[in-house]
Amino acid sequence: MKTLTAAGVTRNAIARMSKCKDPRLKQIVRALTNHLHDFAREVRLTPEEWQAGIEFLTAVGHITDEKRQEFILLSDTLGLSAIVDLMANRNGASSATDSSLLGPFFRQGAPRFPVDGDVSHGAPGHKLIVAGRVLNTAGEPVAGALIDTWQASSDGLYDLQQKDSDQMNFRGRLQTGADGRFRFRSVKPSSYPVPSDGPVGRMLLALARHPYRPAHLHFKIAAPGYRTLTTALYIAGDRYLDSDVVFGAKKSLVVSYRRSGTNGTAAATIEFDFILNSKESTKKGKRRQPAASV
Ligand code: BEZ
Ligand code: FE
Repeated sequence: MKTLTAAGVTRNAIARMSKCKDPRLKQIVRALTNHLHDFAREVRLTPEEWQAGIEFLTAVGHITDEKRQEFILLSDTLGLSAIVDLMANRNGASSATDSSLLGPFFRQGAPRFPVDGDVSHGAPGHKLIVAGRVLNTAGEPVAGALIDTWQASSDGLYDLQQKDSDQMNFRGRLQTGADGRFRFRSVKPSSYPVPSDGPVGRMLLALARHPYRPAHLHFKIAAPGYRTLTTALYIAGDRYLDSDVVFGAKKSLVVSYRRSGTNGTAAATIEFDFILNSKESTKKGKRRQPAASV
């Protein structure tokens, strides 16, 4: 039997995967093992620190359920989700709208709204009109695109965080007309802290990091023949734009309110055209994109 060394354990752990039949799985677990071992060596991880790490991950698992995904929050706050999103979506490689994180508050089956429908159901807050078009990269309207939109209330809470969390609010589905246009009503969203009463919140506190996301509205836009776009619009001037706790805010997605008056009521307006990549163009473009350039 050979003498056990740290480098030997790494070699052994990698060698034991040699019979794995799935090349991608093998590549991923090999790299992960290498990086984890290097990390432990680099910081000279002690048994107590290893134990604390295990307890932290256990707490992340315990608080996770169908309404709260602490693992995604951990990935988001460490910047991992942002990197995966950037690599998958080749932001800036075409005229298509940049993507942004889905986050944990998206819900399937949001109620449908007609043109000018109010997704806030008259909730208190500064009135907002959101309007624009869904276009393709040639500037042509995409008719019949399905838009899911969701946001926090003006006091920074998603419906899932409210007492009556089965009730859907501040979210809806809209469909573009023949001219690619959509328009809905809501209230101005506010910046908000990500859920901070769990292990990820304690981690942020220990690292002297604030838990805030800048004010934003989420969009998920799907249309046949086009790549589904998951994105968000961020409000200009928000104090957390440059320090988004989940690294999701992007310059190209920052919008300003315009003041408008409809029927005597002052409302702020956001106008934005979303541009979708066709499924075909994405496939072609992907081959040209070297992974290391992200
Ligand atoms: C969100 O924007 O809804 C979000 C994204 C990542 C973590 C928490 C919230
Ligand atoms: Fe959000």
